[in-house]
Amino acid sequence: MKNISELTGFRKLDIAEAGKDFDVFTKIGAEWMLVTAGTEKGFNTMTASWGFAGIMWNKPCVIAAIRPQRYTKRFIDSNELFTLSFYPADFRKELAFCGSNSGRDVDKCEKTGLVPVAVDGSVAFEQAQRILVCRKLYAQQMTESSFIDRTIIDSQYRTGDYHTAYYGEIIAVYEK
Ligand SMILES: Cc1cc2nc3c(=O)[nH]c(=O)nc-3n(C[C@H](O)[C@H](O)[C@H](O)COP(=O)(O)O)c2cc1C
Repeated sequence: MKNISELTGFRKLDIAEAGKDFDVFTKIGAEWMLVTAGTEKGFNTMTASWGFAGIMWNKPCVIAAIRPQRYTKRFIDSNELFTLSFYPADFRKELAFCGSNSGRDVDKCEKTGLVPVAVDGSVAFEQAQRILVCRKLYAQQMTESSFIDRTIIDSQYRTGDYHTAYYGEIIAVYEK
């Protein structure tokens, strides 16, 4: 696996600059992202379209919401870092694949052509347009009793698979 420093396309952004021209409603909600965790020795990735970016504890942060059955979750749990990566529109098919197949059953890189790249101790993919490297700060599984709007329980959690919200400090941003 190459290191991002060996690739010519990426430049490291100042984190304060990184929010400009980055509409999270569009980038996460409409265009989707890959959540990836692990190292060169073993990693997994999955598509996500729910998430946040903002400020918490005076730090630039993201929140990724991961259901317990995702194979990716065990990599997030066992590593200090995870990455969020964003792709050009023509990668929709690859992102759909990573969001409908599990790394337990298939090699997502082999099936999609996504090329893993080592980034600051974590992993993302060479084809990304933007990569956020995130350091886990806080993780909390949602609970049934915490829902104020109870209709969400029926519409989203019929099997009780409440998301864990992972708060990650954005420690580096790379862009093409
Ligand atoms: C557009 C899209 C968005 C998704 N967003 C999320 C999400 O925010 N959180 C989540 O837990 N799963 C989400 N998923 C489902 C996972 O990506 C999917 O279950 C994936 O196959 C898990 O892979 P894994 O088992 O290799 O981790 C999404 C799927 C798609 C297609």
